[in-house]
Amino acid sequence: MVKKRPIPPQGRRVGVLGKGGTTKSTTLGHLLAHWSDRGIPVAAADQDIPGDGEVGSLLTWARTQNLGGTVHPPIPHTRLREETRRLTPPGGIFAVDTEAWKKVAGGPHFSVLAAVDLAVWFMQPTDTEMERSGSVFGAIDHLTAVGAANVPRLVIVLSMVNRQSKAHIETRAALTDEGYHVLETMIPFTQASRGYAHAVGKPVRLVDNSPMDLLAAELLEEMSK
Ligand SMILES: Nc1ncnc2c1ncn2[C@@H]1O[C@H](COP(=O)(O)OP(=O)(O)OP(=O)(O)O)[C@@H](O)[C@H]1O
Ligand SMILES: [Mg+2]
Repeated sequence: MVKKRPIPPQGRRVGVLGKGGTTKSTTLGHLLAHWSDRGIPVAAADQDIPGDGEVGSLLTWARTQNLGGTVHPPIPHTRLREETRRLTPPGGIFAVDTEAWKKVAGGPHFSVLAAVDLAVWFMQPTDTEMERSGSVFGAIDHLTAVGAANVPRLVIVLSMVNRQSKAHIETRAALTDEGYHVLETMIPFTQASRGYAHAVGKPVRLVDNSPMDLLAAELLEEMSK
């Protein structure tokens, strides 16, 4: 696929945020591989510190499979901003995976918001999740209100989507009405044996025009702005 607008020379930083189990790590692994496949240098940090013996993190996935670039272990929050700047490949993308969003003022997620250009919020399209997302929307509004040095642009990805249900249409409409930017691409809920639910830890399958490929393209557009 042809790159229309490249990432600027200074690179871009993207943070992946969302409540627990919203496909952040699975999707980010695919995105890194798709960006890299398009010739964009990538690197990432896994800020989600897994418990002992826990599998399924971006870091452990990258230890056994090629995700297209280096995945760094958690970076201390106080150094995240400067380290992500240092580690961003020229003309490339540095991505930050995070643990489940918690509504904690000044919590670890705020260091991610302070470090990235683009915040990608993953959410299931339900009323409950929309209400629960209020705290991240509020956090970004707060950073803007206090004149923080860095306020990332926010985009929303609907994930675990059942296309048979109208929920994603209603949620998209409600979020758009409130002025939020919901990306076109959605991550479908799938438990197929070769599907996303079983992807972590395995070689990434790069499938043209798959949701992961389309999301990689859409986020590239966002980051070229
Ligand atoms: N598209 C999908 N459809 C159905 N299940 C999925 C999909 N993608 C991932 N899963 C499964 O859902 C669970 C959560 O996925 P994942 O670990 O990627 O989410 P996460 O947002 O990173 O979670 P956490 O907040 O714990 O870090 C895993 O068991 C994963 O295998
Ligand atoms: Mg995760």
